[in-house]
Amino acid sequence: MIASKINPLESLDEWEDDLLRRYPNPEDIATSKSTDDYRNYEEPARDTVKEFYRLNHTYQTFEFVKEKQKDFLQFNRKEMTVWDAFNFLNQLVDDSDPDTDLDQFQHLLQTSEAIRKDGHPDWMVLTGLMHDMGKVLCLFGEPQWAVVGDTFPVGCAYSDKIVYAEFFKNNPDYADTNYNTALGVYEKGCGLRKVDMSWGHDEYIYQIMKNHLPEEGLYMLRYHSFYAWHRESAYEYLLDAHDKSMLKWVKLFNPYDLYSKNPEPPNWAELKHYYEDLVNKYLPEKIKF
Ligand SMILES: [Fe+2]
Ligand SMILES: [Fe+2]
Repeated sequence: MIASKINPLESLDEWEDDLLRRYPNPEDIATSKSTDDYRNYEEPARDTVKEFYRLNHTYQTFEFVKEKQKDFLQFNRKEMTVWDAFNFLNQLVDDSDPDTDLDQFQHLLQTSEAIRKDGHPDWMVLTGLMHDMGKVLCLFGEPQWAVVGDTFPVGCAYSDKIVYAEFFKNNPDYADTNYNTALGVYEKGCGLRKVDMSWGHDEYIYQIMKNHLPEEGLYMLRYHSFYAWHRESAYEYLLDAHDKSMLKWVKLFNPYDLYSKNPEPPNWAELKHYYEDLVNKYLPEKIKF
């Protein structure tokens, strides 16, 4: 298989740009500023996103997720300081983005700065800074469809609220009676913490950070790409009271992720000191990936 067949997106940002098309910034609509300001979409770009979801929905099975958990949750690949991890993540270069030359770190910093400017607690600022660090999965050789894209529960029927849900027909679990009922392997109201999500950068960074951030921040990390839940209200029958009380935090986080992109990079020299203190306050010297 040629690389473009495994990885149809020119860059991971293509998926995020598609999110902006699906969920445009209400403020931009209010001021009639078109979301085209973010990017001029062309049909071929949509086709790559579609192909990306075809792969994602075909191969994210319950068994696949279990295998990835077993492998990656040993955290035996790399041990790095947070700062080395940002440098590592930035090896994911994106030279196709027509409107910005910002690297992965800049997206993280713009997200965290937008959170900070609105006066939210410092752990939420750190959550913004770390939320996409799981994309290092790409640098460990994982295909795009196992790193980014909307996430969803596996082991139970796929919601038709998931983008390009028609592609789930290609997934072996779709026809497996263990997995294709509404509850599948789960119990009604069991809570999302007992549910296995499709594998990707959200679950991975959650697992890395789970001893270091408050519960609200952990929900933001773990479910930030679970659009079928936090935007479309699907999977009600899997939720417990804890999920319902955490939903507002996941919703609070989402606009900072989607709408903080700005061609002006933040002034790192001025911000460095604040972020060094913040990282030292919550995170250990080195993090295991
Ligand atoms: Fe993300
Ligand atoms: Fe993000």
